[in-house]
Amino acid sequence: MGECIEFEHDVLVIGAGGAGLRAAIEASAAGVSVGLVCKSMLGKAHTVMAEGGIAAALANVDDRDNWKVHFADTMRGGQYINNWRMAQIHAQEAPDRVRELESWGAVFDRTKDGRILQRNFGGHKYPRLAHVGDRTGLEMIRTLQDHGIHQGIEVYMEVTVVELMKDGDRVVGAVAYDRERGRFRIFRAKAIVLATGGVGRAYQITSNSWEGTGDGHALAYHAGADLIDMEFIQFHPTGMVWPPSVCGILVTEGVRGEGGILTNSEGRRFMFDDIPDNYKDQTADTPEEGWRYVLGDKIARRPPELLTRDHVARCIVREIREGRGSPHGGVFLDIAWIKEKMSDSEAHIKRKLPSMYHQFKQLADIDITNERMEVGPTTHYIMGGIRVEADTQAATVPGLYACGECGGGINGANRLGGNSLSDLIVLGKRAGEHAAIYALETQAGRIDEARVEAAQRTALRAFDRGGSEAEGPYAVQNDLQVAMQALVGIVRTGDEMRTALEEITKLRQRAEEVGVVGHREYNPGWHTALDLENLLTVSEAIARSALAREESRGAQFRKDFPSKDPGWGKANNVIRKARDGSMEVEKVPIHDMPAELQAIVDEMG
Ligand code: FUM
Repeated sequence: MGECIEFEHDVLVIGAGGAGLRAAIEASAAGVSVGLVCKSMLGKAHTVMAEGGIAAALANVDDRDNWKVHFADTMRGGQYINNWRMAQIHAQEAPDRVRELESWGAVFDRTKDGRILQRNFGGHKYPRLAHVGDRTGLEMIRTLQDHGIHQGIEVYMEVTVVELMKDGDRVVGAVAYDRERGRFRIFRAKAIVLATGGVGRAYQITSNSWEGTGDGHALAYHAGADLIDMEFIQFHPTGMVWPPSVCGILVTEGVRGEGGILTNSEGRRFMFDDIPDNYKDQTADTPEEGWRYVLGDKIARRPPELLTRDHVARCIVREIREGRGSPHGGVFLDIAWIKEKMSDSEAHIKRKLPSMYHQFKQLADIDITNERMEVGPTTHYIMGGIRVEADTQAATVPGLYACGECGGGINGANRLGGNSLSDLIVLGKRAGEHAAIYALETQAGRIDEARVEAAQRTALRAFDRGGSEAEGPYAVQNDLQVAMQALVGIVRTGDEMRTALEEITKLRQRAEEVGVVGHREYNPGWHTALDLENLLTVSEAIARSALAREESRGAQFRKDFPSKDPGWGKANNVIRKARDGSMEVEKVPIHDMPAELQAIVDEMG
């Protein structure tokens, strides 16, 4: 098996997006030794795909905003099955974390009087998203990276973990390989923080790049940790649909936050057709009460394009399915219309949405200051994830912590845009802090050499089956993506999901037989074969949870159960590995909120 290098840290952070970096910074500040493992290069993370902003109740643009309104919006967006304590911590601490980012050098857009500028986003009652044009995630990563590299953190780039090692119940390390040379690495650690991001590559159309293969979810699951609410996949309403080579690339919600409207092939603003009662106007037409948005006899309190993502995505799918879509199978997103209202609209759009301008110009030859975009839903984010304790981010396995997209609970059935960037830094900080405390109180564990060798042998199996007869991993990965897109997508039925589970079983059998050729240095076929295991694990978890939840709520819409079920409104789905190795799903009750939080939710409606 060749050279196997060992490293030892008090805290090992796996994943180096916003959450992983923030956790590593905090653990390092506590005085422990920290290793940070990046699957890709440092700075390349899905965090950059949260473009439009970071949600925090700074109240710079509307002084009625505060943590309570943010908390109530987050709970409403999540359809009340969020972990309420996480939502509370997040809303209370986000403003400080944003100001901290600023003190570390993040350059936010400014109000006229020099404060951090905030914009509207779906489901947020007030303009709440601190932003840097449409490159907010990128600025966050740049800032955390610049700050982090001076904190004495050891960074391991292009390294992928294949298995967590345990001593009894607790995690004590990880077996990994470096992608460049294919050599194995052993990391010994007293505490491990998983911050590996999402699972978007389980689907055909996604905003996620190649790293988003559910590694942390799968590592935690196989180590015995619980996963929670895996059925809730966020299909961001606006991804590019044309040309085919860029299908799925994100078109930030910031476009709608800056006034972009959605229209169908008849030129109609179809989001006005479906305004929920609680979103209809009850107020006067004044800035104090909130402007009304009027189309014919239809009135909304805010632009209906800024309803929550689950709602907007379903309306877009309806328009497309009913034959009112755009030529390439999407709908139209129009920001150019603001020229009717603004003399310098071209400069304004280029200033507020510079990446979108270049993205459409270079990839689709569309000038968004003058022309409409074509957009459609793209798999963007998973609300479900590793089940953690709210205050500490501790998973259900001792020594294991999780934060960022791979941690579950805070978002319930649907995440509000911009809440991910704030969750990364609020809960990432907490994960790093508590992993460090655990490490300081704990002796190093023992790693079983036989387990390490078994993990390496398993990782190399695909080479033993190489040669022209064996199927390659790409075909299996592709068939999985097609099945998940078609059978466990935006609109679901029990029959389709049972078919998906049968497909996943067959795909698993095929995955066990895939072969790769060549050697271990930069071998993408081999890497794909290893990623495939994780994709199959998370796909099964998504399908099983979605099948178990016999209702429609947030991001899960079941054609066969189109209403909410009050029983499911008080329950989460927990996935864990049973003793016989099979995957089991358990419906677990949600504890009641304390009276003071319930009062906030009741008051805010
Ligand atoms: O649309 C966006 O800019 C994405 C933001 C998010 O997912 O939070």
